[in-house]
Amino acid sequence: MGISRSFVGLLIMVGSLAAAHAHAADAESIARGKYLYQAADCYSCHGGPRGSPNGAASSGSSLKLPSGGLGLETPFGMFRSPNITPDRQYGIGAWSEAEFKTALRDGIGRDGEYLFPVFPYTSFSKLTDRDIADMYAYIMTLPAVPLPNKPHEAKPPFGWRSLLIFWRALFFDNAPIQIEPARGSDWNRGNYLVHAVAHCEECHTPRNFLGALITGRSFSGNIGGPDKQNAPNITPDVRTGIGDWSISDMEQLLKTGMTPEADIIGSGMKAVVQGTSKLSDADRHAMAVYLKSIPAIHVDLPPPKLASQSK
Ligand code: HEC
Ligand code: HEC
Repeated sequence: MGISRSFVGLLIMVGSLAAAHAHAADAESIARGKYLYQAADCYSCHGGPRGSPNGAASSGSSLKLPSGGLGLETPFGMFRSPNITPDRQYGIGAWSEAEFKTALRDGIGRDGEYLFPVFPYTSFSKLTDRDIADMYAYIMTLPAVPLPNKPHEAKPPFGWRSLLIFWRALFFDNAPIQIEPARGSDWNRGNYLVHAVAHCEECHTPRNFLGALITGRSFSGNIGGPDKQNAPNITPDVRTGIGDWSISDMEQLLKTGMTPEADIIGSGMKAVVQGTSKLSDADRHAMAVYLKSIPAIHVDLPPPKLASQSK
């Protein structure tokens, strides 16, 4: 009796030591995951509408829980973000890490269905395995919100998932980002953060009539983009882009949302800055270094009216 009791005690002790160990390893992964989740703006599309129960912020964070339901207006109709809190019935609580990775890397959902590229998996497909695993670890620590998804209101035929097979064949490339050693570590880190994580191109690159990014016009602006946002040319073109911005001007924008003209950024960029403001100075510097190096593209359109300039 005495022996078996101490044996059970030992088992419990070993068990809790193992748990403590796993927990220590996880804590680092969860912290990294939170950092990336913020920089990738997952909450801005997946956060519920303000004022509704799912719009409540999670404790200890100013970010809304990603319980979905937000309407995303596109030329192809209105799409609604799904619940990605760990609720097992309505969210992704029952998803394995592998299934989560398939959604981000391949744009394929849990039932094998093609996901609509309103979900910018076209950028997230470039995330490393480790970064995806850490984001998964973080999301699984969020409170579960038991709210069902709302259906998309896409215009036919754009709501037909099966047709995405053609779109994917034409436009989807999930090749990883190549390291260019000659460019140095800041540039390479910036390239990764700008493309895979913060997906700046998804708003700042113009799209063709099928909604795919026009490669070759990268970062040259998208007027009247999703949610009727006017994302300006952010290439270093001096007249129609931001060629007169220094590296520290860009760092300042990503940290505080303030432009060199002392305007506060508005529209969809506000949520982006909410994420980039939480990055390290080193990571903001890396992004600014990379953005300074992209090819300048001259745009023949009059510059859009920006929310930040409407005062
Ligand atoms: C621009 C808006 C937007 C952003 C940013 C965004 N998502 Fe989504 N996400 C969507 C939409 C819309 C869907 C639904 C796609 C569909 O129905 O095919 C979706 C689908 C998903 C799914 C599949 C869920 C399901 O039930 O099938 C996962 C997982 C997901 N997103 C995770 C993320 C993560 C993690 C991030 C940040 C790294 C993120 N999303 C950023 C809009 C977004
Ligand atoms: C959700 C869409 C979206 C994403 C993603 C996005 N932007 Fe923006 N960005 C905008 C919009 C819209 C504006 C115009 C803001 C305004 O009207 O005040 C803007 C403005 C800017 C400006 C100001 C340019 C000027 O001429 O004043 C810069 C610089 C910028 N974005 C850089 C970035 C970078 C870097 C990223 C990636 C970290 C990024 N943006 C991601 C939508 C986006």
